[in-house]
Amino acid sequence: MTQHHADEEQASSTLEDTQRAAEELVAQARHVVVLSGAGMSAESGVPTFRDAQTGLWERFDATQLATEEAFRADPPMVWTWYVWRGQLVRGVEPNAGHLAITRWQNKLTELGGRLTVATQNVDDLHERAGTRVAAHLHGDLFAYRCLECGTEQGFDPESVRAVDGTLNDRTQLLDPVSCSSCSAGVLRPGVVWFGEALPEHGFGLAIDAIQEADLILVVGSSGMVQPAASLPLLGLDRGVPVIEINPQATELSSQATIHLETTAAHGVPEILAQIETR
Ligand code: OAD
Repeated sequence: MTQHHADEEQASSTLEDTQRAAEELVAQARHVVVLSGAGMSAESGVPTFRDAQTGLWERFDATQLATEEAFRADPPMVWTWYVWRGQLVRGVEPNAGHLAITRWQNKLTELGGRLTVATQNVDDLHERAGTRVAAHLHGDLFAYRCLECGTEQGFDPESVRAVDGTLNDRTQLLDPVSCSSCSAGVLRPGVVWFGEALPEHGFGLAIDAIQEADLILVVGSSGMVQPAASLPLLGLDRGVPVIEINPQATELSSQATIHLETTAAHGVPEILAQIETR
């Protein structure tokens, strides 16, 4: 065997070993926490924030779109961006990764265990795949409330004309909808903007679930946004194994028990292989 072939063989057997070790952790776990980020929905067609070329923050300036100051400075620009994202999510479907999490959650429930999902995603693809989500740590793209009085109100991004996500043409921007409860305000999306606090209840549920977890799966997050990025570390401090599924190395990878360099739609079904053939 040439050295080249030997290296290749070793690499593939290491990959298989890693895969098998992940399946083993999954088979033993009864209390699982899944922490998902933008990469979870990437294969459904929802752009992530930080991926080179395709990430939203490669094309847009976060401080111009994801802060209250930005919304107050240019309401049509920020409103239209969120309407566009809402329309985009409405037009895509959950992927094989979302569906696998639903099967896993149902299986653990049957076995008397629990799978808790805390996502940084503002889309509803976990729910549309049938998963019960404990926490949307960064809010919900389809929940709207008044910027001034805080009253929650329904707004369907598909009730207005389709908008162009490049935001290049100002004449195509939409004006935010006025609040029907107070005379002063307009609606804002129910997402967590930079500088805002995470939903306390949801964040608390995630921490509680980590205290009881025997396995944590982190899928598709760069681990660059706090405090969500600290959640897997809480588990590691308690000695809970952490499996990371991400095609790229992240801040977490060197500390994770297992890093599977693959995508959500491939990796999540794969680690369930053992429990699903039993
Ligand atoms: P990022 O865009 O920062 O990171 C996405 C991660 O997903 C990267 O590490 C990619 O390598 C990985 N990835 C890409 N495609 C993938 C795939 N098919 N399968 C699995 N992983 C894949 O997204 P988040 O970490 O979720 O916050 O970002 C955190 C927060 O930053 C967001 O919730 C948002 C943003 O600013 C707010 O808007 C408050």
